[in-house]
Amino acid sequence: MDRIVIQGGEPLRGDVSISGAKNSVLPMMAAALLTDEELVISRVPSLRDVSTQCKILEALGARVLHDDQKGVLRLRSDNEDLVTAPYDLVKTMRASICVLGPLLARRGRAKVSLPGGCVIGVRPIDLHLKGLQSLGASIEVRGGYIEAETDGLRGTTIYLGSAAGSTVLGTANVLMAAVLADGRTVIENAAHEPELVDLCHCLQKMGAKIDGVGSHCLEVEGVDKLSGAEHTVIADRIEAGTFLLAGAMIGDGLSVLDVVPQHLLAVLEVLRESGANLQVEGNRISVEPPDRPRPMDLTTLPHPGFPTDLQAQAMAYLCRGNGVSMISERIYPDRFIHVAELLRMGAQIRKEGATAIVNGVPRLSGAPVMASELRGSAALVLAGLVAEGETEVHRVYHIDRGYERIDEKLRLLGAHIERVAG
Ligand code: EPU
Repeated sequence: MDRIVIQGGEPLRGDVSISGAKNSVLPMMAAALLTDEELVISRVPSLRDVSTQCKILEALGARVLHDDQKGVLRLRSDNEDLVTAPYDLVKTMRASICVLGPLLARRGRAKVSLPGGCVIGVRPIDLHLKGLQSLGASIEVRGGYIEAETDGLRGTTIYLGSAAGSTVLGTANVLMAAVLADGRTVIENAAHEPELVDLCHCLQKMGAKIDGVGSHCLEVEGVDKLSGAEHTVIADRIEAGTFLLAGAMIGDGLSVLDVVPQHLLAVLEVLRESGANLQVEGNRISVEPPDRPRPMDLTTLPHPGFPTDLQAQAMAYLCRGNGVSMISERIYPDRFIHVAELLRMGAQIRKEGATAIVNGVPRLSGAPVMASELRGSAALVLAGLVAEGETEVHRVYHIDRGYERIDEKLRLLGAHIERVAG
């Protein structure tokens, strides 16, 4: 298994171009199942999760042409006999659950493995199933699989609310079923994360009739058929936020390029409040670090609040804060697996329920640490960049799920970082 080895303390300088958003492209790929014409997606990041979603679509009879160099995916789903998304693939990536809605809408049946456990906590899919049942699907769970069928989906009003607020992939799944349902569907409490908005734009290009895009209420008028389309995905705001936090930790003139600053407002606010200097010009954001970050209280929330997918990286930043910070996790109360590893690097963190109390220390020290999930791994890399001495991040396959060539991008910015195979 590859590991990343970092000699900490090298300042990061220069521009880094941000890739297309993982969480846009994964559900969007499932939209290819809604038509027998070609869906062409550009600015596709080269990631393990994208390869996994390709394999799932192939298992469902789709033809997949992936030009990894150019970041272009051509998907055509004209063999509609296959309806099973197998456990071996689904277990590695929860976003694959998004094939359920399109399969039901177009093929009338689906057999999709339940995704299973996840280190960031229990991640139920009850709202996905509830929404699809409201549209007229009958669903049973048998042998670890969701078996769903319908003799025709019919539009209705659906409230999609969880204890944590809305659901991103749940909204995507129900939306992709509703676009081909008979009549009008209203999805109340819909997610409005930028990635969901991006999916709506792609579906609109395919001929879907969706009103209220970007709001908490989506109104969908079902159509008989969708066509092919070409769509370019938005910038990955989580990758951008990760690099901005790296710049606020150890930058010396670091800028992220090709981003949508509007998608990053909560993150920019946290950076400013902590004393970082920011400059936003068009789709470029530059950051200069504070001496040590001012401590703060930070709570993760659905968009436009601070994203849970940057909680771990923000914690790595605040570990060197000039006082005590409180970080509360409202989306995934158990998403704190990185805490134990940050402690190994000299951080002072105490966990109380879904809150981490971070007592800032002047310096972190390099150590061997273990990645256990995607965003937590990125936090360990950030901590390694600023720590004294050498940090070895093991099991970096987690980071490869969602960050395109992160080690290479950091090296180009001046980090002493290398990937060691084996
Ligand atoms: N929830 C339910 N029932 C459901 C679905 C969700 O109770 O049926 C709860 C969850 O347990 C959680 C909350 O609702 O407390 C929000 O979860 P959501 O459904 O929005 O998460 P998701 O759609 O499964 C996506 C991203 C995650 C990101 C979350 C929150 C993709 C592929 N994944 O997951 O990204 O953390 O939204 O923003 O889009 C990551 O990229 O590292 C990642 C985990």
